[in-house]
Amino acid sequence: MSSTLTIRTPDDWHLHLRDGEMLQAVVGHTARQFARAIVMPNLKPPVTTVEQARAYRERITAALTASQGPDAAAAFTPLMTAYLTETIEPAELERGFSEGVFSAAKLYPAGATTNSDAGVRDLAHISAVLACMERIGMPLLIHGEVTDPAVDIFDREAVFIERQLIPLLQRHPALKVVLEHITTADAAQFVAEGPANLAATITPHHLHINRNALFQGGLRPDFYCLPIAKRERHRLALRAAATSGSTKFFLGTDSAPHPRGAKESACGCAGIYNAPFAIESYAQVFEEEGVLDRLENFASVHGPNFYGLPLNNGTIQLERSSDSDFIPGLMELENGSSSPTTLVPFHAGETLNWRLKQAQWRASAA
Ligand code: NCD
Ligand code: ZN
Repeated sequence: MSSTLTIRTPDDWHLHLRDGEMLQAVVGHTARQFARAIVMPNLKPPVTTVEQARAYRERITAALTASQGPDAAAAFTPLMTAYLTETIEPAELERGFSEGVFSAAKLYPAGATTNSDAGVRDLAHISAVLACMERIGMPLLIHGEVTDPAVDIFDREAVFIERQLIPLLQRHPALKVVLEHITTADAAQFVAEGPANLAATITPHHLHINRNALFQGGLRPDFYCLPIAKRERHRLALRAAATSGSTKFFLGTDSAPHPRGAKESACGCAGIYNAPFAIESYAQVFEEEGVLDRLENFASVHGPNFYGLPLNNGTIQLERSSDSDFIPGLMELENGSSSPTTLVPFHAGETLNWRLKQAQWRASAA
């Protein structure tokens, strides 16, 4: 059994980096393994203008410089997204896309998840925006859940596909769409059988846990995220999709840090912090499925090809873990202030098969 694994430097096609102290605490975890990341715009206030995206991109680079140094910042490219509201102007999106500031736009159905209140209530209200994106080839990234409280939370993704996504693709047949963080067999099948301009990201946590994890031995807020984990048969379908070799599925962690107190509270926030061991988490899945040789395409090739971006040139190395390589239960992260940010990482207390080798910065800039 081989003890090292080298792959082309991967990218994360769905990531929450936050802002301020949290940003500074977490950004290094992503940059040590990924060359680029699609950065979600659900800040408060949301990122809706070219100027806001440019300023946020600068804050990300500054936070990375402050926490890990200039080499790290030079080796990592944040790809920015616009947050679609019902009043956003097509011209603003087009300008941001043509100036290379916006890589994509994110659709949050209003009320679907963290900081989605400014999102879209009715897709009919943004039809001009969608037509513009279709025309210029700008990808639409979708949080695919209906918000109708009458729909069971475990059914909201499947119902979204029927009620919203199918009609949307009929109205805009050439629109590039990424169905983000898919959680169901329904979504996996829909994307696999759909047109070439439809793809999906899959998170590490939805490949590892099913909904039982939320209740194992008690209420487990660290496994609460949106879309919520589903039944085991859905997890198995996601593993099959991710490891199938299909170019329609690629890596997107949806790493979504919330301070420990905000998770472990009477109304805990949705989001799993998986960035610290994300590539290791995916490697475990691909090895368990017996197709470790397909990890690279999923992590480093399908995403850039869909977005029309070049592949990274650098590589990362993983090496086999030893038993003592377990993942900490808590991480106390420096953030530029006097008190650290405390986060519970995904896989806390577990040992994964692989560990990222470079202790520091990716040697070869991607
Ligand atoms: C994300 C967050 O916290 O911003 N939470 C989550 O559970 N995934 C938002 C999102 O992607 O839904
Ligand atoms: Zn997300």
